[in-house]
Amino acid sequence: MREINASIPFDKALWRQDIAGSRAHVAMLAKQGIVSAEDAKAIDDGLQQVAAEYERDGVPEDWDLEDIHMTVEARLTELIGPVAGRLHTARSRNDQVATDFKLWVREATNCALDGIAALQRALVVRAGEHADSVMPGFTHLQTAQPVTLGHHLLAYYEMLRRDASRFGDNLARADECPLGAAALAGTGFDLDRTMTADALGFARPTANSLDTVSDRDFALDYLQAASQCALHLSRLAEELILWASQPFGFVRLPDSLSTGSSIMPQKKNPDAAELVRGHAGRIVGATTALIVTMKGLPLAYSKDMQDDKPPVFEAAGLLDLCLAAMEGMIAGADFNAERMRHAAGLGHATATDLADWLVREADIPFREAHHITGAAVKLADRKECTLEDLSLDDLKGIDARLDERVRAVLTLDASVAARASYGGTAPDRVREQVAAARRALGME
Ligand code: ARG
Repeated sequence: MREINASIPFDKALWRQDIAGSRAHVAMLAKQGIVSAEDAKAIDDGLQQVAAEYERDGVPEDWDLEDIHMTVEARLTELIGPVAGRLHTARSRNDQVATDFKLWVREATNCALDGIAALQRALVVRAGEHADSVMPGFTHLQTAQPVTLGHHLLAYYEMLRRDASRFGDNLARADECPLGAAALAGTGFDLDRTMTADALGFARPTANSLDTVSDRDFALDYLQAASQCALHLSRLAEELILWASQPFGFVRLPDSLSTGSSIMPQKKNPDAAELVRGHAGRIVGATTALIVTMKGLPLAYSKDMQDDKPPVFEAAGLLDLCLAAMEGMIAGADFNAERMRHAAGLGHATATDLADWLVREADIPFREAHHITGAAVKLADRKECTLEDLSLDDLKGIDARLDERVRAVLTLDASVAARASYGGTAPDRVREQVAAARRALGME
């Protein structure tokens, strides 16, 4: 029983929040005349001493004391005697743990937001440097149309912008303080829940005591936002791994975030990127774990809910690491713009530009233009040359309406410059997007 029951091995991470919650609670009890000012002072001084000890020596792990709440109270009792017993008036570990954990998750959310912003800044800096760097854009991982590397990097900036917005929404929802819900039904003592909410930085107290002690939505909100963010990091990691492989050769990742092989002397492996991709799986797993823990629980508190903390702690640690590793990889990546440009020239990436030209200059319906272009691609393949290299006779042979002017739209630079629609890959558009992102991130 001791072993299955004890949460102190992991919930000791909540000690700061637990002591802050207790200090807010006892100050409120004193103001309401529920404990005397003198007792409240003794309790508050004692709690500060416990905090100083934990800061210095760490939190002791005694399984008989079950959890962080009992551990703090036991030490307080050793320090100040039986008056410590007044602290738990009008409180239960059920509202206490909900309060501690919500405070912790709010901090983790702010930490994730900082990590996201740092990675966004790195992406935006590199996107600005590579607004003109042409690379192949893929669909189905087949060459589709040329894009700019800056545009590609800004795609991840956008994903992270949505991630930040999700974490921000979570903060707004997690702005209600559980303390004072007591075990499940509220309490007969005349509490001032607004005072404790305020002292702990919440906008207001929660409205329903049953919901309060049963609710772990704030933890699930964190995990679900973390999962989606990790999913984005994993896709970026996957692209970096692909781009760093020899057949691509688009990027050299920083040595500091790569490793060698113990047997193959030539190897440089993108381990940090692979671990970001791997850790994303663990973050999704942690999310699934808590969803499944919660899904069958009746109101109000059940001990299953003690299992809420390990998945959140694990996911938060992994997410912070992944964000930092990705920031380092993006900031330190050595992109090979020449190699990317060469790759963009393969696979007739500007075929759509040829079709578009026929529509614009010869007023041919797009479907027919698509067909004519297909013939040009076939011919270029047979001659093992690019569309640009087809002679005027070749072009005329395919369709008499093709003429010399078409050649100008078939270059990579013309192709990306032409895609200047709002949100498009044209270098000028990318520069505008970079400027807007820099303003949004306060980089100006
Ligand atoms: N250690 C418990 C948890 O993490 C605290 C709440 C315990 N409440 C109870 N009634 N046993 O959930």
